[in-house]
Amino acid sequence: MKKRLWLIAPAVVGVLGLAAAVIGLVPIKASSGHFEVTEQLLQFFKHRSVAFGSGEVELPPLDAGWLVLKGAGHYEIGCRPCHGSPGFPPPPVATAMLPPPPGLADRVRYYSPRELFYVVKHGIKFTGMPAWPALNRDDEVAAVVAFLAKWPELDREGYAALVYGEQGESGTAAAPIEELSGKVEAGVVVSSCARCHGLDGLARGSPAFPVLAGQKVEYLAESLKAYLEGRRHSGIMQPIAAGLDAQKLREAAEHYAKLPRARKRAPVDEEAVRRGADIATHGVPADRVPACGACHDPSRETNGVYPRLDGQWAEYLVLQLELFSGQGRGGTAWWQLMDRAVHRLTPEQMSDVAAFYAAQ
Ligand code: HEC
Ligand code: HEC
Ligand code: HEC
Repeated sequence: MKKRLWLIAPAVVGVLGLAAAVIGLVPIKASSGHFEVTEQLLQFFKHRSVAFGSGEVELPPLDAGWLVLKGAGHYEIGCRPCHGSPGFPPPPVATAMLPPPPGLADRVRYYSPRELFYVVKHGIKFTGMPAWPALNRDDEVAAVVAFLAKWPELDREGYAALVYGEQGESGTAAAPIEELSGKVEAGVVVSSCARCHGLDGLARGSPAFPVLAGQKVEYLAESLKAYLEGRRHSGIMQPIAAGLDAQKLREAAEHYAKLPRARKRAPVDEEAVRRGADIATHGVPADRVPACGACHDPSRETNGVYPRLDGQWAEYLVLQLELFSGQGRGGTAWWQLMDRAVHRLTPEQMSDVAAFYAAQ
């Protein structure tokens, strides 16, 4: 008799549990918090899972200084509303979540860069910590990790200077008020784009962001639409473009298209530029790579959606070429033209042709 009771006990518990769930007795209130033991267990499982899962992460290089600027730029809208920022605790609405998003000052020391990469890329189930919006952009996740690694050196002012520019710095979102109100017709540029691309479209002098000044208006508008509709993949630009209506999108494109493309030139490797010029004008006939200039030469009458490459950052051009050749970039309705053009380029050829265009 006793033995049989043993056998049916688990079934009875199961049925009672199911009944409680169906009636609605299982509490899901964030307001009541977790029991201490549940909390400890959840944290323990999370740390073990992150340690195990991050074992297979291939961390992209984090040493380029401009990655920090790119990561900080995204952090401001992508993470700060939940986690706070250097010198600021998480905002009150976020701390009412369960689990609450922690301030990250000590977390960035507790986790290794590999573990941070894993958390930022994949998010954490059942917690509100989101996955990266474009899962094929490891380079962007790496930029956020590079910024997190810099966190311990930052105070409020240091963080604000990274995200908005030094106070009073011309051409940035922190420019003197006369500059902000006087020159810019397109309010959306001041309120949203300038902190990364600059008011002047010269990207704050950093390859973290593409130069937009003087770019063809059609290409700018079509690219923004491509981000907005998820046809071009970027965890940084997709959420920003999603906030634009048709009019703001047009305003921003027109603002940047008519600015002078007068970026300060970095020192160049003349040999690389010469090799790149050859690819731009003749292509690589042996590998059936077409001449880039056929579509990208600004002096030719080409489709408005073929972008200018002259005066763009070499680092940005190389990144886009890598994305095209790995099939991960996407873009406007014409992006497949680039697939044929680049997937036979070697890494050296990419870097040469980028050096050529950057020096124009
Ligand atoms: C919607 C709110 C939200 C956003 C946006 C968000 N997080 Fe989180 N994050 C959370 C929550 C909630 C947790 C889980 C906390 C826990 O498990 O105790 C978390 C966990 C983390 C952790 C692990 C902390 C720990 O103690 O284990 C890191 C690191 C992190 N987030 C970084 C980021 C970064 C970087 C971004 C931006 C790319 C970001 N988060 C965006 C809510 C958010
Ligand atoms: C947080 C920084 C940030 C902000 C703010 C930002 N951008 Fe970007 N933008 C980027 C980055 C990074 C890229 C490169 C993304 C990629 O690799 O696809 C980019 C790419 C672009 C491109 C494509 C350029 C090209 O040559 O293909 C356009 C167009 C653009 N942004 C317009 C805007 C506009 C308009 C706004 C304001 C509404 C804006 N961006 C706000 C960081 C930002
Ligand atoms: C048949 C026309 C054509 C040829 C030839 C061509 N491209 Fe392109 N390229 C395009 C188009 C169209 C885009 C815009 C893709 C999009 O975003 O939809 C583009 C975009 C690019 C971009 C991204 C620019 C940015 O701001 O993000 C780079 C870099 C680029 N091309 C480099 C090259 C190089 C290098 C070559 C030569 C090896 C080349 N292209 C040959 C049509 C061409």
